[in-house]
Amino acid sequence: MTSMSQVYSAAESALTCDDASFRAIADILRRETGINLPADNSSLVVSRLIKQLRRLKLSTFAEYVRWIEQSAHQDDRAIMISSLTTNTTHFYREGYHFDFFVRDTLPKLKKMAGQGTRIRLWSAGCSSGEEVYSLAATLLHHWPEVALADVRILATDISADALNTAKEASYPREKLESVPEDVRALMLRDADPADAMVTMPDAVRALVSVRYLNFIEPWPTRGPFQAILCRNVAIYMDDAVQEHIFTGLVDQLAPQGVLFIGHSERLPPKLAEKMTLVDRTTFRRT
Ligand SMILES: C[S@@+](CC[C@H](N)C(=O)[O-])C[C@H]1O[C@@H](n2cnc3c(N)ncnc32)[C@H](O)[C@@H]1O
Repeated sequence: MTSMSQVYSAAESALTCDDASFRAIADILRRETGINLPADNSSLVVSRLIKQLRRLKLSTFAEYVRWIEQSAHQDDRAIMISSLTTNTTHFYREGYHFDFFVRDTLPKLKKMAGQGTRIRLWSAGCSSGEEVYSLAATLLHHWPEVALADVRILATDISADALNTAKEASYPREKLESVPEDVRALMLRDADPADAMVTMPDAVRALVSVRYLNFIEPWPTRGPFQAILCRNVAIYMDDAVQEHIFTGLVDQLAPQGVLFIGHSERLPPKLAEKMTLVDRTTFRRT
């Protein structure tokens, strides 16, 4: 016997996104986030948005586009954008950046904080928070008295789902396996060994503020920042948007501040005068 859900999923598996609807969705995404969907990516649009068509009881992408274009449906439009962002991340991703931070940046921050300087760090495009908590736990492990200094880490993203996870700061235990043992022990120090989910300790969370920020809109940030991680965000943008983001970030860096970018990303040539490569995909403001 065929169930209704089998009939439904058979119909869904045949669902395609026609060219005009794909272009309309890609245009909205580019205009509102800077993300550039490659032209041959309609299967990604189908797989990421099919749940929304089902929820709204719409049967074609043309109907869906008409729906999200209505000003009364801003919330559904925001869900569409959140669904189309790629939030892949993990703890200690590109771990050489954290090694550099400990070796090079941290001793300078301690000294500056001792002289009364406000220390601000930023995980820009933080996704679900693994990046910012890797940084915060590393900072706390190597600087146990950090709470006595004026140190804050900002974590920003546009994806509502990712931001909710970052705010909850609770992760499946196995996700911590990529964290070096000493820092992992700190992350686990308040956790019950029987729990499958691990919540970051209060002292780690206390360093972090999680906020919505879209690089395409005005940035309500209060720099200067001594270090910014903006990794694996710009790869989804075209050159003009990349230049806008990286120029904006460099402007927010303190003198000698450090910018960490993703392994396959490049700084635009016009920033060469301001930024010196000091390690793998790691630049210091001159
Ligand atoms: C692949 S994740 C990278 C996460 C983390 N930085 C890392 O390297 O593991 C890219 C993140 O950039 C965010 N993003 C995309 N467009 C953005 C925009 N216009 N403004 C802010 N964040 C954006 C996405 O929501 C996503 O969470």
